[in-house]
Amino acid sequence: MADYSTPFKPQDPDEVNGLIELLDHTQGRKKGNAEFFCKKRTYKVEGSPILVDSWKFLDHEYKRKALPTFARGLFTCKNPTTGDWEIASRGYDKFFNIDEVQKTKWAWIEGNTKAPYELTVKENGCIIFISGLPDDTLLVCSKHSLGPGPDPDKSHARFGEKWVDRQLEKLGKSRAEFARALREANVTAVAELCDDAFEEHILPYEEDRAGLYLHGVNLRLPKFATYSAAEVKKFAQEWGFKVVDSFDKPDVKSLRDFLEEAAETGSWDGKDVEGFVIRCKARDVPDGEWHDWFFKYKFEEPYLMYRLWRECTKSMISSERPKIKKHKVITAEYLRFAKKYFEEHPEAKERYVENHGIIKLRNAFLEHRGQKGSDIIKEEAEEDTGSEGTGGGDSQIKDNVVLASIATLGCGKTTIAHALHELFGWGHVQNDNIPVKAGKARAFVGAISDALRKHPVVFADRNNHQFREREQLIKDVSKLNYKTTFVAIHYVHRGDLMGEIENATMARVFGRGDNHQTIQATTQSRRTVESIMKGFLRRFQGLDLGRTPDSDFNTAIDLDPLASSRGNLEVVVSELKRHYPNLIPELPTPEDYDRAILAALNYAPSHHTTSRNAPQRSQTKETPSAAGPSEAPKRQPKQSHKRKQIDYFGIFLPAREVYAAVNSAFEAQPERICGFWKELNANDRVQKTFHVTLCHTSSKAKQPEIWKKYTDLLDSKGGDPSTVLGRGEVELHSMAWDGRVMAVRVLLSDEWECANEAPHVTVGTANPSIKPFESNEMLEAWSRGSNEIFSLELQGVKVEGEVKPFARGW
Ligand code: GTP
Ligand code: MG
Repeated sequence: MADYSTPFKPQDPDEVNGLIELLDHTQGRKKGNAEFFCKKRTYKVEGSPILVDSWKFLDHEYKRKALPTFARGLFTCKNPTTGDWEIASRGYDKFFNIDEVQKTKWAWIEGNTKAPYELTVKENGCIIFISGLPDDTLLVCSKHSLGPGPDPDKSHARFGEKWVDRQLEKLGKSRAEFARALREANVTAVAELCDDAFEEHILPYEEDRAGLYLHGVNLRLPKFATYSAAEVKKFAQEWGFKVVDSFDKPDVKSLRDFLEEAAETGSWDGKDVEGFVIRCKARDVPDGEWHDWFFKYKFEEPYLMYRLWRECTKSMISSERPKIKKHKVITAEYLRFAKKYFEEHPEAKERYVENHGIIKLRNAFLEHRGQKGSDIIKEEAEEDTGSEGTGGGDSQIKDNVVLASIATLGCGKTTIAHALHELFGWGHVQNDNIPVKAGKARAFVGAISDALRKHPVVFADRNNHQFREREQLIKDVSKLNYKTTFVAIHYVHRGDLMGEIENATMARVFGRGDNHQTIQATTQSRRTVESIMKGFLRRFQGLDLGRTPDSDFNTAIDLDPLASSRGNLEVVVSELKRHYPNLIPELPTPEDYDRAILAALNYAPSHHTTSRNAPQRSQTKETPSAAGPSEAPKRQPKQSHKRKQIDYFGIFLPAREVYAAVNSAFEAQPERICGFWKELNANDRVQKTFHVTLCHTSSKAKQPEIWKKYTDLLDSKGGDPSTVLGRGEVELHSMAWDGRVMAVRVLLSDEWECANEAPHVTVGTANPSIKPFESNEMLEAWSRGSNEIFSLELQGVKVEGEVKPFARGW
């Protein structure tokens, strides 16, 4: 029998203060310098002056033997009255799947846990923690965050809060009353937010099924302690929650029998489920103390294959096209068998649709093959890792593959797609090449389908950053080409790295300047480009293979948006080779990768105008018919682009001389003056090369005669873009800087006309998101006499440089 007495234990201030001190000491430290690695984020809570810190460990760290707490979801705050730290909200201890760690092997479970084993269906919504702060403010958090977040409409915590309000209103209770009750019991209520209006999940939760499903009430203590299922139910009823169904098993044997049987069908109570969470008591040493302990049992192979067979059989019976994502070869064979079986037993069809005879048919097939399901899985795995991939499974896939990027602007999608084309001659359809008009999404899909006829693999180059876009892509491409295998190329946007990702991608996009079809970072205002980019980052919905439409991807390849495209390219190729050995007969050499990336970085799109962009054909990168994929690695970057691509003409100065002149000017200056110079050096933000821009492509319209002068000069010298047009003397006049950018104002001889009001050399910027061209604004402000700009005269140092054109990628 379960123990129905409500556990209670107050927080021990010494213990919690010690915990926070330890976490604080370690937070943010690089791995390797610390026993463990955790990250803190501080939040303001609406309506309360109390600040709340969220603590997060990296997922794999929970597998360690010792951590100060194993709470996944931990929020702390300072009690303003006592000055002590408190645990404000506490999630469950991180729990693992069966067989995932030593402690979730059946042998360990048998020897070290005790009944009752309470089972709940593994939920797939989003978790919400509800607690009370010392000032009776109700604290509603999602796993690691709280408050409205960047987009209040998408904040789980905010949505959860609304549901709590609705519940309280029905009960005629206030938030403060609930907060106080939670606080007095020293607990956090743990619920699943299930509401299709907010986010769709595998099981539908519409109308009166929607709401907060309470599945746990945790004591706010470092060591995990939680209410029994009966207590949770009582609490739920008292506070208006819906309850997650649960039931008990009295011993490990009946528990195991039940789970293995449920796994056979992947369903329970007539519904498909992902698995179960099992709650019980465990002890770490034979005579140790019993404590609350959870593990999960997720349904895996061969059961997922059985489930696939069941679904495919039903589709076949109702004359729909079966959706086969995995186990393609064996499933096709199974379906042939099933077809024959139903021809021989027509009455079985009807019964099958009503869920009778599923196991019988499956067993008949396995018997016919003389194999167990697990043997088939084992065989597939061996074939997939086998060098030649001669057998079935995914090694059969040789074509009809769509690589769909899931990304934000500037992650490097186009670069990777180009490089893949260089390596293997694969197709590449850029959404940015499709003229903006009604039906763009359809045109994109049409171009992909066309390209699939010519190329075994096609890169669907679009951000696909929302579920909605992925759904459209998968659905519509499948309609045109039902054999398509979809692979997600997922630029993972970790929540804690969003700032860095924003900086890095902005640096790339501003560095790219106008070299893009729709985002012209040089011509468009900085604010416009930044706001477009931020919009994508805010709306980004990362890949979630556990839900539709992402569950329709056959494979996902995770990329790091902060890594180089060269590195990401290698990940894509080697992962594709691993999953689909026959797609890539031979891995490229490091030189092949280098060459492909160089060619990709050299790419300049034709700018996006309807007239220049012939529909469909030009949207797909064409592989010359003579150059099959195997010849592709030898192809060199296309030279023909280069003439069109000049970014600017400039005087390129000897870096060492410029650096020395600037450095000596700052030497012996007080901190107030030399501080920013020191900062740039310390952060490695001083430019490695220095130049004076004479005429940038973005000034072409305003100063056509200057641009023409330089292009004519280049043409007169044969047009080779590496030609030195002449030598130019530059006088380094004075330094100017604000907190963002530093430049040297220079004087030029009349010979070298400059389109800029204030000819200058940018010395450096405070971070990668600040682009060198901000020097222009800063120098303009300086010449207007702005007192926010610092300056320092140089002693008229003269340096001589080469006048040359410059284009990205050379
Ligand atoms: P959008 O089309 O704007 O969504 O961007 P994208 O994801 O297609 O990115 P793209 O491939 O255009 O890369 C952005 C810019 O960064 C381009 O100018 C690339 O040449 C450049 N870039 C891409 N990868 C790298 C890299 O590894 N190193 C450097 N230095 N530049 C890179
Ligand atoms: Mg692009």
